[in-house]
Amino acid sequence: MRQKIVAGNWKMNKTLEEANILASEITGMVADEVKGDVKVIFCVPFPYLLPIKNQLGNNARISVGAQNCSEHESGAYTGETSAAMLKSLGVPYVILGHSERRQYFGEDAALLAKKTDIALKHGLTPIFCCGEPLEVRESNGHEALVKKQVEESLFHLDADTIKKIIIAYEPVWAIGTGKTASAQQAQDMHAVIRKHLASKYGQAVADSIAILYGGSVNAANAKELFACPDVDGGLVGGASLKSREFAEVIKGA
Ligand code: 13P
Repeated sequence: MRQKIVAGNWKMNKTLEEANILASEITGMVADEVKGDVKVIFCVPFPYLLPIKNQLGNNARISVGAQNCSEHESGAYTGETSAAMLKSLGVPYVILGHSERRQYFGEDAALLAKKTDIALKHGLTPIFCCGEPLEVRESNGHEALVKKQVEESLFHLDADTIKKIIIAYEPVWAIGTGKTASAQQAQDMHAVIRKHLASKYGQAVADSIAILYGGSVNAANAKELFACPDVDGGLVGGASLKSREFAEVIKGA
């Protein structure tokens, strides 16, 4: 059985002091209230990776993740952060291909394949994001597009390697809009992604890969979304910035 994962994507929010308070509040609530086998990941801004990681200590349930990394190994790339740097901090996870990176920073499939490779090379677990914009959903092209996104950036990996990836399906129209995909819409797309993985790698490999849902997940809808058979947890933006709300989301897993 796949472990449930709830990752908070803090995006570009919070001062260090606020970040420390948020992490410590959630950690306290998770310890007190949340039962069961749920993996929690705080995907924090780069400057907070080490302080928050240190604050968590050797908490077995909660880890930190980065929100991006460079496709380059090292060198003259001012402002960039490499996978090797993240590894050297002891960061286990990195979000790749978030729709905001695709939209505002022009990240395309080929670049994301490179970022995936370098993250894996350094022993990081990529949380690879895919998802369609509204107009594609409305013209019924969503399944084809998401399959293509997964295929173009991940299908060069061999079966043993793709097992190390976490996929996050985040329909762009549901991100930060308060408009969540219904549980049925999420389940349908997750099943499509899993079937696509199975067509390339076989059912056993496809069944071992966690597929998270992201897009306006909150305390009120998490339980229903996470109960879907192919939804293995969530990648949560806005609701991960409020301790009580995020603790409720985690409880829904
Ligand atoms: P929201 O939960 O704020 O819609 O953001 C989702 C997201 O982008 C997580 O990566």
